[in-house]
Amino acid sequence: MRILVVSDIHANWPALAAINEPHDVCLCLGDLVDYGPNPSRCVRWAMEHADHAIRGNHDHGVAQGIPVTGETGYRYLTKASRPYMWDALGQEERRYLLQLPLTRRVTLDGKRFLMVHATPRDPLDEYLMKDPQAWAKRVQSAEADIVCVGHSHMQFNLAADGVIVLNPGSVGQPRDGDPRAAYAVIEDNRIELKRVEYPIEETIADIEASSFPDRAKQLLCHSLRHGRLPEAAPALAAEDPA
Ligand SMILES: [Fe+2]
Repeated sequence: MRILVVSDIHANWPALAAINEPHDVCLCLGDLVDYGPNPSRCVRWAMEHADHAIRGNHDHGVAQGIPVTGETGYRYLTKASRPYMWDALGQEERRYLLQLPLTRRVTLDGKRFLMVHATPRDPLDEYLMKDPQAWAKRVQSAEADIVCVGHSHMQFNLAADGVIVLNPGSVGQPRDGDPRAAYAVIEDNRIELKRVEYPIEETIADIEASSFPDRAKQLLCHSLRHGRLPEAAPALAAEDPA
C-alpha cells in the first residue's frame, strides 16, 4: 500500500497540484486555508481526494469565524489573509472545515495511525519541533505505531518511545529555507520525506492580484520564494508560528 501524507497546504493550489504521486490512500493533516490565495480550490481538493482528514488550527479559525489580532510574523499574515478566506469560501467548503475531526485513528497495512495537527496533548496549537525527547512524552499513551502531525511546517521523521512521529512538512508554506512543496509517502511501512518544485510565481501572481494588504503581499511572497520570512526581521520569523 502506498500512502500519501500531506499537511499545511494553506490555500496554495500550484504547490498542491505539483504533487504527482500515485497512491492508494491520502492522509491530510489540516491547515487547508489561510495565507494563500486559493482556499476554495484546496478545500475542494481535500473534499474529493483526502481519504482521512483532520482539522488544523487555521481550518478551525476560519470555519468558526474567529478574528485574529497581531501585527508581526505569521500571526499578522493570518490576520491579513483571513477576511479573504471568508469571502472566497462557499458554504459547503466552510461546512467541510467545520466538521473535520480534531484527531483520527486509522489502521493501514497493519499499522495503527494517529492523525493530529499539532500534538496529541493539544491537537490544534502546541508547537513541537524535531525533538525526540519532547515527542516521547506526548506519544507515550498514543496507542499508535505512527503519529502523523503537521503544524510546525518542518519536515521530519523520528522515533520516540517506540512510536514513529512523522511530520510531512508543509505543502504550501515551507518554513525551513527550502521553498519546494513538502510531503511524505509511506510504502510497505517505509517512510520517504519528499520535496517537489512548483510554479511559485503562479501563487505569487494570485497573491499580487488579491485584496491582501501590500505589507502582507510582500511578506508572503518572500516567504514563498525563500521558504522563510525575511532574515532582516528576525522577530517576525520567531514570533508565533501559527
Ligand atoms: Fe500551518
